[in-house]
Amino acid sequence: MAVLPIRKYGDDVLRLPARPVAEIDAALQTLIDDMIDTMYAAPGVGLAANQVGVSQRVMVIDLSVGKRAGECHVFINPEMIDATGEITEEEGCLSIPDFVEVVTRPERVKLRYQDRTGATREMWGEGLMARAMCHEIDHLNGTLFVDHLRGLKKDRILKKIAKLARSGMWG
Ligand code: NI
Repeated sequence: MAVLPIRKYGDDVLRLPARPVAEIDAALQTLIDDMIDTMYAAPGVGLAANQVGVSQRVMVIDLSVGKRAGECHVFINPEMIDATGEITEEEGCLSIPDFVEVVTRPERVKLRYQDRTGATREMWGEGLMARAMCHEIDHLNGTLFVDHLRGLKKDRILKKIAKLARSGMWG
């Protein structure tokens, strides 16, 4: 169990589509435990493996941030198989700390994935869970929430990040 450094916007690994997990072995179980520790320490409600520098299709979500038993979900090789509705809310990302912006996402999404025992499962998420599912799947595809922004909102965030990077306060 370990808290890993979280890669920040600008790190190439965040832009690489993550590879499917071929085998659920001891190394993967360790990675999952470390990802959960890292998510709770941040603190955050979700984390994708490429955010800790591992290009594999694994993500974890716990809307209670470890406060309530049974709310930590591990998704291996997740696929979105259904989505309904639309909702626009503020969203942030551990790889883009201290920035939030509104992003439109489906209101309900259904994922098919493997759990950490290797069993194939399906799960509907609604509201914040649906948002987290979409956000983390985006990560596994090399997409960040700022990619959904347009125009001035996008320019403003990217300029502020560039300024932080120049002053050595990023990454
Ligand atoms: Ni994120």
